[in-house]
Parts: sequence; structure tokens; C-alpha cells
Amino acid sequence: MRKVSARLTIPDILKMRAEGQPIVMLTAYDAVSARLAEAAGVPMLLVGDTLGIMVQGRESTIPVKLEHIIYHASIVVNNTEKAFVVGDLPFMSYTISPEQALENAARLMQEAGVSAVKLEGGERLAPTIDRLVHAGIPVMAHIGLMPQSVNVVGGFRVQGRDAESARQLLRDAQAVQDAGAFAVVVESVPSQLAAMITEKLSIPTIGIGAGPHCDGEVQVFHDILGLFEGFVPRHTRQYAKIGEMIREAIAAYVRDVQTHQFPTEANSFSMKEEVLAALRADGTENGASH
Ligand code: KIV
Repeated sequence: MRKVSARLTIPDILKMRAEGQPIVMLTAYDAVSARLAEAAGVPMLLVGDTLGIMVQGRESTIPVKLEHIIYHASIVVNNTEKAFVVGDLPFMSYTISPEQALENAARLMQEAGVSAVKLEGGERLAPTIDRLVHAGIPVMAHIGLMPQSVNVVGGFRVQGRDAESARQLLRDAQAVQDAGAFAVVVESVPSQLAAMITEKLSIPTIGIGAGPHCDGEVQVFHDILGLFEGFVPRHTRQYAKIGEMIREAIAAYVRDVQTHQFPTEANSFSMKEEVLAALRADGTENGASH
């Protein structure tokens, strides 16, 4: 019998917005994060290029390659059933030309099985978004702070604080919608501006560091769980201190092994007495033959 996909679709996401239901998105990079997030009711998962920082331990997202995203995204897709999975197009994988973007986005869709791709860029990326959408590739745009451009803007700074850059962001938002993006991530902009963008657009805005007026919110798995311990970004809320819990648990394991508290008989397997007796007799015979 033909398998019918139970995954969420773009119309489902647009319906959430229409009904005023906040759209929750969380990053996931592996089987554990994907399964836990889906079981907790997260409808949209992002295999973000933040995996460069969270999984690979790099300082930025710049070194992440398309192959890395494909690898992690295929794991996330294969370990979820309902979630709408978005795969990030990493640095330099879509900005050379719309044709390059098309080739790489197609690989992400076909090799990883994601439901959509995300790319950073506003007005200037509109022709690329248009090209992908016309080829059947759903695009989530990403405006405001674009971490792949961190070296151009000189750091992870809030964007759109003055009238000129705020106007540009409003143009960016309109341009990505007009080009066919089905949703847009708005990162690190003043909440009043995010509210204006949300008001102006008919596609969902997904905020991060953009205040409470967007249609949805995206956060990084490691940030909300206290697994990234370098610092707690202002835009996040730590719902647990899992890093601390893991460290304490592993320290207890180390202590138990070193003090012979683990493993015990309860963690062991035994063999029948007669087998043991036969082995012991072998030992005696071997000893006698020397
Ligand atoms: O790569 C990522 O995880 C992102 C989110 C922070 C929006 O782009």
C-alpha cells in the first residue's frame, strides 16, 4: 500500500498563522534532538547552520558545508514523522548565482528529504528565491541579523535600529514575500520593527531576538536546554540546565567506576555452574600437562 506522509505541510503552517496560533520552531541536528523535539510537540524543525557552533564547536556558522547540513538533515528527517523539517543553505552555497542555489537546494531536498530550505538575505536574494520557488522548492527567508554575514556587519549586532536600516528591512521583508518565500525568519531586530514587518506581510514571520509580535518563534536546541554553556544570549530563555546535569551524571559514573561501586553483579551476566566447573577442570588439566 502507498505510504501517505503524515508530515505537516505549508498550508498547515499558514493555517496556524491565520488562526492566530503561534508557530513554534526549534533547531535539531541529530536523532536525539529530533525525536525529543517532535515528542514535545514542536511542529517545525530547523537543521540550522548553527550546527557549526553547537555540534562542531566552531566560532561561527561560516565553516559549515552543504554536506554537513545534508548529513544532519537526513538524520532529522529519518527520525521524525510529523515535523516540517527545514534545511539551512550554508555560507556560499546559494549566493554565487540562482543556478548554484537551485543545484544545492535540490540536493538538500533530494538527499536529505527536507520539506523546505532556508537562506539568509532580503531584497538582493529575491531573484534567487523566485528561481527556487518556481522550480518547486519551498523557501523560508531569513532577514535582520544574518550570521553568515557576521564578518561584513562586524559582529552579532541588533539590526534595523535607525530609520534607514529599518526601512531597508521593511523592503527586504516585502521583497522575499513577493519572490515567493512561504515564511521569513526575523533575527535580532527591535520588537517594534518586527511588529511592523509582521503587520505588513501576509506570510508568517518567525522571530528570534525579535520580540513577542511575530507569528512564531525559533530557538536553538542547545540554548533553551542549557547545553551551550559559553553564554546565555539575551534572545533566549533557558528551560533547563542539561549541561550541568550531564556533567554531574558523568562525574558520578567516573566516581563509581574508580571506587568499584559500578559495575556490580546486578549489571553482569552469569553462566551455568556446570559450564563453569568444566572450564575449571580444563584449567586443571592444562596446568597438569605443563
Ligand atoms: O542556523 C540556525 O539555527 C538559524 C536560527 C538561529 C534561526 O538560522
